[in-house]
Amino acid sequence: MILEKPNLKIGEKKKISIDGKEILLIYLGADRYLGFEPYCPHLGCDLEKYGVIIREELICQCHFSHFSIKDGKPIKGTSKKPIKVYKISVDKNKLIIEE
Ligand code: FES
Repeated sequence: MILEKPNLKIGEKKKISIDGKEILLIYLGADRYLGFEPYCPHLGCDLEKYGVIIREELICQCHFSHFSIKDGKPIKGTSKKPIKVYKISVDKNKLIIEE
């Protein structure tokens, strides 16, 4: 999936819809973007609102589940299920999103 690079501030999160999928984009600065399914696999909290990135973890602040930003595995907290991670690379002004 390819889309125009969105204009995000560092640390900003944005849900996008592409090819019938919703993806939560998180911009880390430079050419680093993260992509996740937008709802927590624990009880479905909206991670655009409740998700934060701390170091190498995505944390859902609803019940404090921690997920690896690399592979989505649950590291700590209530969720036993992983979160889906999308691999994102940048090519000039485009984002290339892989499942
Ligand atoms: S809904 Fe995210 S930790 Fe419970």
